[in-house]
Amino acid sequence: MQIVMIGSGYVGLVSGACFADFGHDVVCVDKDAQKIAKLKDGGIPIYEPGLDQLVSGNVAAGRLSFSTDLAEPVAKADVVFIGVGTPTRRGDGHADLSYVYAAAKEIAEALDGFTVIVTKSTVPVGTGDEVERIIRETNPSADFAVASNPEFLREGAAIEDFKRPDRIVVGIEDEKARAPMEAVYRPLYLNKSPILFTRRRTSELIKYAANAFLAMKITFINEIADLCEKVGADVQDVSRGIGLDNRIGAKFLHAGPGYGGSCFPKDTLALAKTAQDYDSPVRLIETTVAINDNRKRAMARKVIAAMDGDVRGKRIGLLGLTFKPNTDDMREAPSIAIVQALTDAGAKVVAYDPEGMNAARELLPEIDYVQSAYEVADGADALAIVTEWDAFRALDLPRLKTLMKAPVLVDLRNVYSPAEMTEAGFHYSSIGRPD
Ligand code: UGA
Repeated sequence: MQIVMIGSGYVGLVSGACFADFGHDVVCVDKDAQKIAKLKDGGIPIYEPGLDQLVSGNVAAGRLSFSTDLAEPVAKADVVFIGVGTPTRRGDGHADLSYVYAAAKEIAEALDGFTVIVTKSTVPVGTGDEVERIIRETNPSADFAVASNPEFLREGAAIEDFKRPDRIVVGIEDEKARAPMEAVYRPLYLNKSPILFTRRRTSELIKYAANAFLAMKITFINEIADLCEKVGADVQDVSRGIGLDNRIGAKFLHAGPGYGGSCFPKDTLALAKTAQDYDSPVRLIETTVAINDNRKRAMARKVIAAMDGDVRGKRIGLLGLTFKPNTDDMREAPSIAIVQALTDAGAKVVAYDPEGMNAARELLPEIDYVQSAYEVADGADALAIVTEWDAFRALDLPRLKTLMKAPVLVDLRNVYSPAEMTEAGFHYSSIGRPD
């Protein structure tokens, strides 16, 4: 299959490289000339484990190439994916679809022969209809079908998620789109990943419903964690105790500082807005959004409480800044609100993150950035684990304690056990577990 991927960001680049790895012929297109030049030079604009080898291997095999020009590859393509960004629109919380619609218009002008145009970006219900309308209006004689094919990959595990998905969802209105979409995914469903064909609007909603459900699940366990702290129960045991019930499932029950990232915050908000527009509010999701927003600053209050309520002039060390490990992504990271609240309370924040410090420097210029967990600990009045990078899972506790001014450790990811930390002489607090 000849595939074009419009948008070489996270989803576009990972999906494009994986499709090429299946043996398809893939051109990744992006308007950002610098990004394309970097990719052509063998550079990878994002941090994702395994992506550099995947890209270089497929470029070398002649299956993957990069271009700023859309017209030529689109004319030859069987399937064109739109994988451009859909950020939250300023002011109203809706998804900003201007990049999607601009791509649709450009694709329309270049079409030649029957082509399936597929929205892979997360787009609100009805976007496929509008893409179809734009293409028809721009190029009335075009032979095409518009499909929806949401992506469920997680940052940090994106290649694995793409190659071994729980399911593939494809929304179509025109049966002519079915065979090309089956051909694109044949290597996966031969491998037993179910492919689910639905109507287009249903497929668009599946993506939002999936992310909203997961965000709600995390928020549920976070609230149960707060209750555990009040009643002297252990949230990890509660998670295990409920998660072993197959109807609930064990995943996404890890209590923490609140969900962040480029997807859950944006998608929950967009779903809530769409639902309000259709006069069918999703109140559970509206509440999830509000609870999660409050939780991030509440985590700073937890650190302040561990220091007897006063952090003025104190040096507080943060281990981890990204919204989760194995990414350099700082979007909507809980660390942002935590740093702001600690700084507002008069503390000086020092931090280390294995991959996120470049992005963090722009968002949080007030932090002192250092190069290791031990440098963070040096002279600190307290430490907080904000992101559960592997590098923080087996710290030399005696060394940490010697370096610190006071051995206060707040573990917002429950990396350590209260027993081992008490044994090591720390004043330790964590999420939803008796100290
Ligand atoms: C999420 C979904 O998991 C993917 O299926 C989806 O494709 C993607 O959004 C998307 O829409 O593009 P991602 O944002 O990469 O993926 O990260 P997750 O691993 O889902 O984590 C999201 C946030 O939830 C992180 O801040 C993480 O720390 C938090 N989380 C996750 C918890 O606090 N507890 C958990 O048990 C799980």
